[in-house]
Amino acid sequence: MEKLSISIQNVLKFVSQDEINSYQNEIDKHFESIFQKTGKGNDFLGWVDLPSEIDEELIKSIEADAKRIREMAEVFVVIGIGGSYLGARAVIEALSHSFEALLPERKNPLILYAGQNISEDYLSELLDILDKKDYALTVISKSGTTTEPALAFRILKQHLENKYGIDEVRKRIIAITDKEKGALKELATRENYSTYIVPDDVGGRYSVLTPVGLLPIAVAGFNIRKLISGALEIQKHCKQTTSIDENPVSLYAATRNALYQKNKTIEIMVNYQPNLFYLTEWWKQLYGESEGKENKGIFPAGVSFTTDLHSMGQYIQEGLRNIFETVISVKNSKRELLIPETDDNLDKLNYLAEKKITEVNEMAELGTSIAHVDGNVPNIKISVSKINEKNIGKLIFFFEMACAVSGYILDVNPFDQPGVEAYKKNMFALLKKPGFEKESKEIWQRIK
Ligand code: PA5
Repeated sequence: MEKLSISIQNVLKFVSQDEINSYQNEIDKHFESIFQKTGKGNDFLGWVDLPSEIDEELIKSIEADAKRIREMAEVFVVIGIGGSYLGARAVIEALSHSFEALLPERKNPLILYAGQNISEDYLSELLDILDKKDYALTVISKSGTTTEPALAFRILKQHLENKYGIDEVRKRIIAITDKEKGALKELATRENYSTYIVPDDVGGRYSVLTPVGLLPIAVAGFNIRKLISGALEIQKHCKQTTSIDENPVSLYAATRNALYQKNKTIEIMVNYQPNLFYLTEWWKQLYGESEGKENKGIFPAGVSFTTDLHSMGQYIQEGLRNIFETVISVKNSKRELLIPETDDNLDKLNYLAEKKITEVNEMAELGTSIAHVDGNVPNIKISVSKINEKNIGKLIFFFEMACAVSGYILDVNPFDQPGVEAYKKNMFALLKKPGFEKESKEIWQRIK
């Protein structure tokens, strides 16, 4: 069995094993509250059962819809923001060819994203592409009321209707939303769109293993059963043991909290594979929204090495010492590319001749972690054998579980995000949304 493993060797200069182990009792308690659904935010703990309880009929229906869309569309647009798109994007980008869009003979529809910003240029440029491509879309919003995806959907729905006619459009739109409430649900019912439900007890950022993540991932051509099986492996392990010695989830949660207690308030997720960029984005959202509240929480940041060693590397090596790193270490590449020998050796690289590029990357990783530890940046290492559906599934459940445990250690509700409302309230007041008359008057007075 390919294990997801974790090493904290490069942390022990900063926190002792005893300090890490001192979290054991708390962790036992938190695992229990998560599995028994008795902790803070317990009405949003449905995600914990997803790997073992996901319905076969639902998987089959997603696979059938994905097949239908793959046959009809060159492009599939995923409309959503935050937890309603980052999980799908993380998995799709991790597994896709780096130059997917330019592959000469594409097998898979190209997945594009909308509703994750309010950029007029972005949407206009997306329409330039969609004018010329056969496409279908999914609009994903649990609340069904989020402004960014609603705006993008309004524009793309009209574009689709003009391009294909109202009847054809019904085959090209899949709505993923609440089972009964929200404007999107109402619209989907009225327009008779195919619909999937976001379970009541699963919040956006924990929803990768619901249709929110699974449908786009399946449309992109990836095996959602393998993804779920990876998550299931970690779920089973979490049910077997909570021991910091034996369960990487417990060890990760304990270690990052022990570091936080030593004023390491920023955690930088590090990858050495550019296709993991969105996994970091997903992780940032998961941890940022789950932990950053009540004036507490580790700030989640991300870098892609070795690219960012030539930008953020300087700060990490010598800047303010309030950071630690968590490295996602991938042992094997998917492809093999050997470094050639040259006769003249003008670039002085013959000492690397016949090595795999990955061997150089590995030494960059090792050399960097040693340098960063020397620079007083602790370093947690999470290893997977290679990037595939199963291992990404493991990472997803691993991080979700560790996030919930960490949130409970911090004594916050890891499943709400009250702070996200502040910008929305101001934006609605500034835009004079009906119902915001009082706030509108106040805010416009403030900025006069
Ligand atoms: O994790 C979360 O709950 C959020 O990031 C939401 O996913 C995000 O705000 C989008 O919400 P909705 O799906 O209701 O449009």
